[in-house]
Amino acid sequence: MNSPAVHAAGVTPNAPDMRRVSLRVNGKPYSAEVESRTTLVDFLRHSLLLTGTHVGCEHGVCGACTILIDGRSARSCLTLAVQVEGCDITTIEGLANADGSLSILQQALSEKHGLQCGFCTPGMLTTLSEFLRDHPAPSEQQVREAISGNLCRCTGYQGIVEAALLAASRIAADRP
Ligand code: FES
Ligand code: FES
Repeated sequence: MNSPAVHAAGVTPNAPDMRRVSLRVNGKPYSAEVESRTTLVDFLRHSLLLTGTHVGCEHGVCGACTILIDGRSARSCLTLAVQVEGCDITTIEGLANADGSLSILQQALSEKHGLQCGFCTPGMLTTLSEFLRDHPAPSEQQVREAISGNLCRCTGYQGIVEAALLAASRIAADRP
């Protein structure tokens, strides 16, 4: 027989710990009540309905959930929503050009057949957009190292690497 639960006076059993979080996602401000244990990826997908960020392993290994926090790549499955209070988040939905056309990197990935099922693609693109910003003329080896934390079980990576190199050369050619 279960013994009756004992609760301190005034404490509601199992009451979720709710916090308000205010942040910008892809340039748009949001403010929402969120349970303190909610991961950032769940907050993005379920509260903000930004489902482009994928959830794979949920423990920091596969890279599918990679987003940018203040311009730096991070695992949104290992980050709590309450930790990004006041931050600027970029997800895959924010990578296209302002007119909705594909970014140079997205276009290159498409041309080089750098995706098949597409599950890893949002994380690959956020990772590579940070990388190309910081490494405008990368070597193939540097690209491979940059995506070494993003698992893809379809492509064999070759098309992704070629796409990153193609994008780097196009971005360089566009530079004044
Ligand atoms: S879902 Fe976050 S690293 Fe795999
Ligand atoms: S395209 Fe399927 S996992 Fe990368």
